[in-house]
Amino acid sequence: MEPPSPAAIDLGFDPGPLALWAGIFAQATPAGRISAVEGALRGRRGRYWRREIGRWIGRLVPVEILVPESAQRWRPLVRDAFQFVFERLSDRRLATKVAQQFELPADTPPEQRLLRLVNKMPGLQKVGQVLARNRRLPPKLRRALSELENGMSDVTPEEIRGLIEERLGQRLTEYAVELEPAILSEASVSAVIRFTWNCPGREREQGVFKVLKPYVPQCFDEDMTLLQDLGEFLTAPERGYGFAIHDVKEMLSEVLLLLTHELDFRREQATLLDAVKMYRASIGIRVPKLIEALSTADITAMSAEAGVKVTEAFPRSPIRRARVAEQLIEALVAVPFFSREPEAIFHADPHAGNLLYDETNRELVVLDWALAERLSRESRRQLVLLSVMMALRNPEGVRQAIRDLALSAGRGNHERLGVIDGCVDRFFDQLAPDDSPGTLEAMRLLDRIALDGVHFPPPLFLFRKIVLTLDGVLYDVAGPGVRIDEVIAREFLTRCVASLGAFHAPLEWKDVAAIPWNALRYSFCRLWPGKAPAAPTDSARASRGSTPNRRPKSPPRAKSRRPGPRRPQSQPAG
Ligand SMILES: Nc1ncnc2c1ncn2[C@@H]1O[C@H](COP(=O)(O)OP(=O)(O)O)[C@@H](O)[C@H]1O
Ligand SMILES: [Mg+2]
Repeated sequence: MEPPSPAAIDLGFDPGPLALWAGIFAQATPAGRISAVEGALRGRRGRYWRREIGRWIGRLVPVEILVPESAQRWRPLVRDAFQFVFERLSDRRLATKVAQQFELPADTPPEQRLLRLVNKMPGLQKVGQVLARNRRLPPKLRRALSELENGMSDVTPEEIRGLIEERLGQRLTEYAVELEPAILSEASVSAVIRFTWNCPGREREQGVFKVLKPYVPQCFDEDMTLLQDLGEFLTAPERGYGFAIHDVKEMLSEVLLLLTHELDFRREQATLLDAVKMYRASIGIRVPKLIEALSTADITAMSAEAGVKVTEAFPRSPIRRARVAEQLIEALVAVPFFSREPEAIFHADPHAGNLLYDETNRELVVLDWALAERLSRESRRQLVLLSVMMALRNPEGVRQAIRDLALSAGRGNHERLGVIDGCVDRFFDQLAPDDSPGTLEAMRLLDRIALDGVHFPPPLFLFRKIVLTLDGVLYDVAGPGVRIDEVIAREFLTRCVASLGAFHAPLEWKDVAAIPWNALRYSFCRLWPGKAPAAPTDSARASRGSTPNRRPKSPPRAKSRRPGPRRPQSQPAG
């Protein structure tokens, strides 16, 4: 937008002591305005001006418009947080923000002012994004935040095109790359733009460039420090925000983690290659193919994938949506869980914006591998057991799985085994007879145990996040009926049955021996009415137990082995 001519500056609100600047601004060019504020911030009264700017911003964007009545007690915290961040912003960035706000037309609504304020502030934008996906927040606030996310735009297609030309130079001609004029998607750290290119030996193909926005590396360190300081500020006892400490800490650590990973393009590229391998045998799931020849440290080139946002797939068919939900669980939990690799990759940010559904081929497309976690076979084994034992309401099995998880994190947990036992006992005592706890409850139980001082391996933190995020997406896709643990349990049972005793990674024979078969039969009947398996006899156990590493004659394929009325036929990839 063109800045207004000097005479047109009319604030339309009381600028307080900042009125002084309105006069100066009227005479100055846009660059002159920024320099004038910067000068004031650097001067002797810099701190005074910062404080005044903080208050002024609070009046420009009243916290009431952002935080609804229903979340009233969060308002002072949000106001303090805003003030804290802007008061501490570096001179040049803060001066730019002040000048921009003065230049906006007097009747600009606060929401628009807010968009300008968070312009080129990846740290704050990320906070908004993470909050928008938090199901514990009131829906109205989440909607406001996601509108903010969609309305964000702080790079132009020309800037992105310029960066691509600078980095790829000759390669653009070599591969006859043609860029689309518009940006496809823009978020806090990167922008995505479509292109077509000549893939050697193939027909012309469609791709996308995911490009690190050029200003992000410059303000990254400042934003990280600001957010860390903000965390300390908000959680200090003298603030009196005790009710929010846990949420604030958790939200900020997620934001910091996301930001660090999202800047590491090389890492995402390597993960994409691994993910393609992991899903190679899985029908109905795909990930974009990396185009290495056109990728750099700040550009990822990959195949353009067709599909709609997963929550919008088959809007009128509950049956197909139920199948989509199962594909989600398979892709994000079951395939990595049961991978034969020593370390399996989990997509650690599975919100709906990262999941497309290709309705024509009935394929789920998993995008955005910036945040991924690798779990060892042993951790996965314990998590599978925890899930299965939880679904079977088996306290002893749950206790053992959690003990093993804790012990693998450190011997120091030896002294805290009593805490685990106590929490598990309390959990089962409080279960109502008709409750059916699952993976989600298992994660909540781990949370409670962690709060009591038991230390778990760090990847578990991310696994918990995966389950919680996925649970939200599943709810939006198919309502409350879909359960992660049921799909895991079914995978587990199918593998037991299909492999005739040569049990699939990551499970071992002793795990199966530890499972109460009567409960398992019950569970099996619930999942596939009318098809109960026979419990292994002792002699069968003994003979299978003697060849624990025997492989199945024909390892079951990921998609062809599952019976069951709940599963409509999926089409093979086209
Ligand atoms: N390979 C792809 N094919 C089609 N669209 C893509 C592809 N990669 C990304 N997009 C689009 O760009 C958006 C942002 O990409 P993503 O990788 O999630 O980056 P970020 O969330 O960090 O901006 C996605 O939600 C999707 O709409
Ligand atoms: Mg994304």
